[in-house]
Amino acid sequence: MGDFSGRHVFVAGASGGINFAIAQGFGAAGARVTILSRSEEKIAAAAQELRDAGVNAIGIACDVRDYAGLEAAYTQAVAAHGRIDVLISGAAGNFLAPALKVSANAFKTVVDIDLLGTYNVFRASWDHLTRPGASLIAITAGQAVHPSPFQIHACAAKAGVNMVTKCLALEWGPAGVRVNAISPGPIADTEGMRRLADPAREAKLKGSLALRDYGTKADIAEAAMFLSSPAAKYITGTILNVDGGNDIGDASADALTM
Ligand code: HXC
Ligand code: NAP
Repeated sequence: MGDFSGRHVFVAGASGGINFAIAQGFGAAGARVTILSRSEEKIAAAAQELRDAGVNAIGIACDVRDYAGLEAAYTQAVAAHGRIDVLISGAAGNFLAPALKVSANAFKTVVDIDLLGTYNVFRASWDHLTRPGASLIAITAGQAVHPSPFQIHACAAKAGVNMVTKCLALEWGPAGVRVNAISPGPIADTEGMRRLADPAREAKLKGSLALRDYGTKADIAEAAMFLSSPAAKYITGTILNVDGGNDIGDASADALTM
């Protein structure tokens, strides 16, 4: 999906999972890549894996809740790879718990990582973006618009992520900066699915999706590359569902039978 040779792609929350796959996708398409996450050990290993695959990549350890740390990370990344052409904000935390078991600090922790973290990642990037031309993408979730039991913290946080995306798209569009979000559906072989989905209910969940299967990490990487390609130059402020039809409703045989 496109040629990103010479482009600098910065992915926050990318020591593994979907966001690392996004970094791999852009790297395979020729981009210079910076990845960032909290764990020094994990991000160093992930950056090494990219370099082993021939990608010009660096890894930076930083918590997206640390605004000053992000400013320093951008300075370091731009010194290594030049101005940022594509910026992905995907750091997230989640766990299943009923509201009565979610302390104020637990709620705040997830909001701080997902919502404030996305604000920080985007806000602190301004001086380092290619302007005009930069593509910013938040990784949100269907829970932003569909309430879900036992995820009050993540639903609230991701709802905010959608609004940060749209508000920044309005403000930064005149400078030639596009801001979009990708909303993945259930993606196979991810930490998110390990935490949220009961393997015993896999067939039922797949059967409720219009496209009858989980997505892949590569599906999300392809969507990010599309949104950052010239083909998407007139797209901003959108929440792109890459979810097998999860957003449109229950497509199980029972639901479709009148
Ligand atoms: C209730 C919990 C809890 C749980 C932690 N807490 N786990 N409460 N049930 N299972 C509470 C703690 O008791 C504490 O509150 C508060 O949360 C902060 O916990 P810490 O461990 O100090 O936080 P921290 O070290 O910052 O870790 C953040 C984390 C952790 C979110 C809790 O799980 C994490 O690092 N996750 C990152 C990886 C991850 O979650 N990936 C999946 C993303 S899936 P008290 O009151 O005791 O101080 C995803 C899918 C999207 O996002 C779809 C949904 C939107
Ligand atoms: P994951 O593997 O746990 O990815 C989360 C990443 O964020 C990790 O690399 C983690 O690395 C990093 N991170 C967490 N907290 C951080 C912080 N405070 N500062 C910096 N980095 C932090 O989860 P995933 O399942 O691939 O999910 C990736 C994204 O897709 C998330 O935004 C998630 O909400 C979204 N999503 C996933 C699914 C799904 O099916 N999995 C569905 C919908 C949406 P460190 O531990 O090294 O910090």
